[in-house]
Amino acid sequence: MFNKFRSYFRRAKADYVHDFFSPDRRTTLTIQIKNGNFLYSVHKDEKVVVRPSRLGMLLRGQPAIFSHLTLVRTQEKRFDETWEAPWGEQHYIRNNYHEAAFYLSEATGLERLFTVRFRIFNEGIAFRYEIPPQPKFQRATISSEMTEFNVNRNAYAWNIPAYQPDRYEYNYRKTPVYELKNSVHTPLTIEDEASGKFLSIHEAALYDYGEMTLRLSQSGTLLSDITPLSDGTKAHVSLPFSTPWRVVMIADAAIDLITNRMIYNLNDPPKQDFSWVKTLKFMGIWWAMFVGEWTWAPGDRHGATTEHAKAYIDACKRLGIPGLLIEGWNNGWEGDWLQNGDKTDFITPMDDFNLTKVAEYARENKIKLIGHHETVGYVDNYERQIDKAYKNYVKNGIFYVKPGYAGTMMTINGRKEYHHSQAGVNHYQKSLELAAKYHICLDVHEPIKGTGIERTWPNLLTREGARGQEYEGGALSPSHTTILPFTRLLAGGMDYTSGILDVTNNTKHIATTIVRQLAYYIIIYSGMQMAADRPEFYEIKFPDLYKFIRAVPDSWEKTVPLMGEIGSYYVVARQQRGSKNWFLAGITNEKPRRLQIPLDFLEDSDYEMEIYRDTDISDYRTRQLDYKIESRRVTPNEIFDVYLAPGGGFAVHLRYR
Ligand code: NOJ
Ligand code: CA
Repeated sequence: MFNKFRSYFRRAKADYVHDFFSPDRRTTLTIQIKNGNFLYSVHKDEKVVVRPSRLGMLLRGQPAIFSHLTLVRTQEKRFDETWEAPWGEQHYIRNNYHEAAFYLSEATGLERLFTVRFRIFNEGIAFRYEIPPQPKFQRATISSEMTEFNVNRNAYAWNIPAYQPDRYEYNYRKTPVYELKNSVHTPLTIEDEASGKFLSIHEAALYDYGEMTLRLSQSGTLLSDITPLSDGTKAHVSLPFSTPWRVVMIADAAIDLITNRMIYNLNDPPKQDFSWVKTLKFMGIWWAMFVGEWTWAPGDRHGATTEHAKAYIDACKRLGIPGLLIEGWNNGWEGDWLQNGDKTDFITPMDDFNLTKVAEYARENKIKLIGHHETVGYVDNYERQIDKAYKNYVKNGIFYVKPGYAGTMMTINGRKEYHHSQAGVNHYQKSLELAAKYHICLDVHEPIKGTGIERTWPNLLTREGARGQEYEGGALSPSHTTILPFTRLLAGGMDYTSGILDVTNNTKHIATTIVRQLAYYIIIYSGMQMAADRPEFYEIKFPDLYKFIRAVPDSWEKTVPLMGEIGSYYVVARQQRGSKNWFLAGITNEKPRRLQIPLDFLEDSDYEMEIYRDTDISDYRTRQLDYKIESRRVTPNEIFDVYLAPGGGFAVHLRYR
């Protein structure tokens, strides 16, 4: 029954060896404590997916907690509960696992106590380290976390590099796992040819600790590489302390990864009332700056003027878009703003912008403003002002903020720190908790990666944290967004800034067909969805396409991934929350394809199907503006046959009749 490797493992002399099973019994976690070492391995359907991998931790000034471990006791628990998500891709989420905790102590030396807690889900496994208060010390500095993920040899990883100037904003590469050269970010999605499974290694509930990146160890296994602080250590913690959960999602097919909800399940329910949190669709004084019509900086072409803001509020009202983002309204954008971040003033508007008047006008017209704080990573400067700056927004009735952290490093306590270090993580958390206190919702750009904390802090409606549409104009290929659903989006929603219909713009030429921009609203989830283009592209140039953007909701009842291959194409259906209406979309890379999509996800009989699609001659390089809108009645037994042009896609609205 067991493969060769596994029976070898069983026969080996061990102090302790035991199997634990997922609720459906298809996933097996094997724990082995051998000669004082703690190892875990994972099988799915009796195929090994993680080979024996060591766990341990190195505390500063002490020997590693690694090789003298003895088992004090184990504790097991079963858990099965379905919880309601206030917004998001799925209304009800089942949290079903088998937990096994290993309370360990060292046989010699400092006799430290150490716990490793595992949860085995049908969708994968997770574990975390817990350091209880020790007889001999109450605080600890973590120098290194020695967590191995010893995956199979014939495996390929979809990865972006860590410790780079543009944080998470890189194009994904597919690399044999054992040829990874430097540290990479998670979620790290792995195609494992040996087992035929798809894995994604990630983490959940990242608090007060450096982000886990992964690199190859000298012995050739994937190893956790916790983002260091400027003092070279990984984290300073007080005990008891739990690390974030280390997560290995496991799926039979790539698209089965997409509905993996482990990272939310590994976070706690909210501890306070968040009934005030509301998702929001918004437009922005924004893309006009990217295409060079307006500027963030003061001057003749300054974007965020009182006059422009009022005109955009009027446009939001006419278009039925409830929110408006205004960037570049405050002092600090003069000259090269990326260099001036230590002087930014988050409260004082520029001379041509009257915040009070604009806010008043927005209120009269029932448009919600989204305030903007571009910190350029100068956290010290921001934290000096953040409380006053949030209060200033609240005073003006502004309850949404988009903070940004452009810049290669953060400046925290006068030191340069990585965004994803413990210091950075703690800043993001501080600002999120302060926002919650003022009932402010956030859309964080240049954020810390998603680890499911929005379950506990649902006012974190969305974040960026990947290469988004701002990179169009040369740095994005159509394959990028066919990779994101299987990688970055496993970490939660993203503000991709969809809906740019000015695809043929000379300054910012967009590498998609025009209808693919509609598909993005279904493909890329965000609790705050931006209609990112200028109003004239919705009102005057393409009102027929805009109809779809207006109709698309920002919260779903259910998400049903239908087909796809990482980097090639992806099709997903989503049911509008609290409605029988569905939306369906697909995108392809640079290759055209014809797809036959069964509509059997529809539960009821009769639907009006509105289709926005490419034509036979559409092409993201040459014929971006060719599209067709059709409407017909359909039933669930039909197969929807659709053509996707190179760099194209389709979007469908299914109205229940
Ligand atoms: C980068 C953000 O991603 C973008 O949305 C914003 O406009 C600029 N920074 C300026 O703050
Ligand atoms: Ca960005």
